[in-house]
Amino acid sequence: MGKIPEHILNEIQDRCDIVEVISSYIPLKPAGRNFKTNCPFHHEKTPSFIVSPDKQIYHCFGCNSGGNVFNFIKEYEKMDFIEAVKMLAKKTGVKLPEYKRENTDSDSIIGIIHSINDIAANYYSNTLEKSGDSSSARRYIEKRGLEKDIVKKFRIGYADSSWRSLSEYLSKRGINIDAVLKAGLIQKGKDASHYDLFRDRLIFPICDVRGRVLGFGARVLDDSLPKYINSPETMVYKKGHHLYSLNFAKTFIREKGFAIITEGYLDVISCHQYGITNAISSLGTALTQEQIRALKRYTHNVVMVYDADQAGQMATLRGLEMLLEEGMNVKVATLDKGHDPDSYIRKFGPRCFGDLIKKSKGLFVYKLAILREKFPESDSEAMAEIAKEMLVTISKVRNAVIKAGYIKELAQELGVKEEAIWDELKKTKRNVKAPGSMLQAQGVVRKIDIPPAEKILVKLMIEDAGVVNTVKDNLQPFDFKNPDIRHLVETLFGMDTKDSFIDAGKLINYLEGRVAPHVISFIVNEDIMIKDKERNVSDCIKVIKKNQRDSRLKDIQNRLVVAQKNGYEDEARGLLEEFNKLIKGGV
Ligand code: CTP
Ligand code: MN
Repeated sequence: MGKIPEHILNEIQDRCDIVEVISSYIPLKPAGRNFKTNCPFHHEKTPSFIVSPDKQIYHCFGCNSGGNVFNFIKEYEKMDFIEAVKMLAKKTGVKLPEYKRENTDSDSIIGIIHSINDIAANYYSNTLEKSGDSSSARRYIEKRGLEKDIVKKFRIGYADSSWRSLSEYLSKRGINIDAVLKAGLIQKGKDASHYDLFRDRLIFPICDVRGRVLGFGARVLDDSLPKYINSPETMVYKKGHHLYSLNFAKTFIREKGFAIITEGYLDVISCHQYGITNAISSLGTALTQEQIRALKRYTHNVVMVYDADQAGQMATLRGLEMLLEEGMNVKVATLDKGHDPDSYIRKFGPRCFGDLIKKSKGLFVYKLAILREKFPESDSEAMAEIAKEMLVTISKVRNAVIKAGYIKELAQELGVKEEAIWDELKKTKRNVKAPGSMLQAQGVVRKIDIPPAEKILVKLMIEDAGVVNTVKDNLQPFDFKNPDIRHLVETLFGMDTKDSFIDAGKLINYLEGRVAPHVISFIVNEDIMIKDKERNVSDCIKVIKKNQRDSRLKDIQNRLVVAQKNGYEDEARGLLEEFNKLIKGGV
């Protein structure tokens, strides 16, 4: 998107008052220092829409829409951002520069990142090519049964074990080191030095639908940990936004009328090697809304084939619900225990895999089987549990006829009357909705999931630049769990904090697109009683540190269970060591 300079946005904002602008559309009532009204974006009986004249921000605590005056106009008038700015510019008499689409700063840096990634992909691929037949990388590829053509097609490469070979290669070609940093390929070391992120690993470039390289996944050649390192989030690579191999699979997905979704890089690559060309991968995580929306352009039909382990089953169940919520038709194929699509195809061949896809089960049969195993008794408590769990999924089915069919099936399965299931379904719906927003169907209710300590700390940082410095001394952006908060913290750390407080309305302009405006308005627009600020800050820091450590411990424990179950002794030993170190070291 083209960009209107920040100082122009600020100037327009200085010349109009958000209270005046909003009250020309809807009546506002004073409430303390703020103004309140019923939210225009969702239906409600008691007002939760707050406008703050001090902060020049609005926020609805019912549906979480919010932002500054431009965001309000945009949402209320259903315009795009530029149109909203133009309208207010006219009102306030601020002259806008000629708006051109091409060659804005962020457009060109994105182009630069794409080409650096492309050069890096070629570099890694050449490194692999040049390493001899008996090199560890080539032997690994051989061991995994990857054929020459497929290695070429997926641009698989190798990053050697040196700490600087890529960065030196790129600087010799005159590529600016800051741009390489922005591409996420190198990291800052001590002093002013840099080092390559990927070392002694097999490289899988991750591309968008048009085949441009967005980032990389990198696998170790043995059993050491972590098994994969992926590119950090950059301006072009967002975790959970992309589907691996969609660029190759898209036409075949259209042709065959459905997509096969797997978990991993190698699952997809094996599929394609054996002619199963409509396969894509969610890359480890449970499917996200962004991924599903990207896929929807090509098909509404999906078969999920995840790893046949506990983690794969959990991810399947979560993915199922996401897909249903997005109105997709889903089926699930289950592999023999211990297999993933890659190992299955290699052992039994593509034809067996094809049969498995043909035999894939509907969500009803799949989830019911899992629940039957979990609740094997046939007493009424077990039935109730099964019904409850099934209804969570069934309630997400959009098509009313299909939904009614499932209800009927469930009633038969459990040997109860259909009405009883319908009654329970009503309860499920009530539980799913946010409190006090019975009519949310009319507007979009945004979910904001920010740990309280993160929210309070960032609020204090915005209100007092002194706090920014304290936080900087104690935490890193990645200590914050919520990705929006992480971006916000990064920005606050990098800002010139001469001013003692940061104007929230303008912060939104400054962050254009990097952090959603409603997240900022949510953070700053709520009044929190602060008695002892210093104490509050240090408490929040402590809590965040502790949460970070706890989640790392939990992650290690989960991986340990899997490693032990599968008998990966080296991996388990490494994890245990990591665990003990964390327990002892505190951080
Ligand atoms: N993954 C990741 N980081 C990890 C582990 C996994 O990003 N530390 C992602 C990768 O995209 C990986 C996917 O999760 O492809 C599935 O993980 P896993 O099943 O462990 O790996 P496989 O792809 O099956 O790799 P392999 O067959 O080599 O074990
Ligand atoms: Mn796997």
